[in-house]
Amino acid sequence: MRKIIIGISLLVIAVVVGACGSNGGDSEGDARFPIEITSERVESGAAIYAVNCASCHGPVNGPPAIGIAPVHGSAGHTWHHPDRLLFDWTLDRPPLATFMPAFRGQLTEEEVLDVLAYIKSNWDSDKQQQQREGSVQYEAQIIEFGTE
Ligand code: HEC
Repeated sequence: MRKIIIGISLLVIAVVVGACGSNGGDSEGDARFPIEITSERVESGAAIYAVNCASCHGPVNGPPAIGIAPVHGSAGHTWHHPDRLLFDWTLDRPPLATFMPAFRGQLTEEEVLDVLAYIKSNWDSDKQQQQREGSVQYEAQIIEFGTE
């Protein structure tokens, strides 16, 4: 009897897990995105940026310290991308990157969230708003279609 109950329980778990995974998406969503700009994050991120990013990117609002590094401020392109991509690119390099290093192993994921919150806090409020909406839409697509 006990074995049958265990067997049925496992079957129920398998069916439930299978149903959740059927759209390949993350039905829960990821609470880290969009990244909230809090004063704690901005303060911590400013220090992380100064040590790890400014040597190439210069101050967030420019000019870059080395010619090929893009400026992260409102005048640049960074705000055109959703938070999750900025997060992934900082950890594992942007696609086709030449000089941009991977920070996985150098910075924790929390530190990457902090440094991005700091960068975002420097954008004009209309760009901040637009980029936030883009990040929300991007997360909705991931819930629907998954990350692959
Ligand atoms: C050694 C120089 C260097 C350092 C240090 C560096 N970057 Fe970059 N970064 C680059 C370059 C150059 C590019 C353009 C892509 C390429 O050719 O590598 C880039 C591109 C990027 C991009 C994608 C373009 C964009 O703006 O959307 C992001 C995001 C980024 N860097 C974030 C950071 C953050 C955050 C840090 C610090 C934690 C950092 N980078 C540190 C050189 C650097």
